[in-house]
Amino acid sequence: MCYVTVARVEELPPGHTRTVEVGSCLILLVNDQGEFYALQGLCGHQNLPLAGGKVWQGVLDCPWHHFQYDIRTGENLYPKRIYPLNALPKLREQVSSLRTYPVRVVDEQVQVGVPESCEQR
Ligand code: FES
Repeated sequence: MCYVTVARVEELPPGHTRTVEVGSCLILLVNDQGEFYALQGLCGHQNLPLAGGKVWQGVLDCPWHHFQYDIRTGENLYPKRIYPLNALPKLREQVSSLRTYPVRVVDEQVQVGVPESCEQR
C-alpha cells in the first residue's frame, strides 16, 4: 500500500464529497466536519457512482436509491435500518459494505492509502 495525494484540504470543505480516480480505483473522498474519509466510489447496490451523495452525521446517502453507508466503516445501514433482515432474507443480498481506505493529511494535502491493485492501470 502507498499513500497518494488526491486533493488539497481547502478543495473539499466540510459536508462535501468528491470522486477521485487513483489508478484503476474510483474513490469517494468525504469531508465530514473536518475529518476526511475515503470509500469505494461505486455503490454496492447496483455499482452506480456515489458522486453527489449527501453526508449527514457520519452517514453517506447514495443518490440513486438511497442506500446508506457508515462513512467510517463502509457498513451498509440500509435496508438493515428499515427492515428486519430475518423477516426479509432476500434483502441480505443487498447489504454489502463499501470498501474503505485510510486517509491522512500531510502539509494540507489529503492523501489516501491505496493497495497496489489500485496503483496499476
Ligand atoms: S445504486 Fe446506490 S442505492 Fe442503488
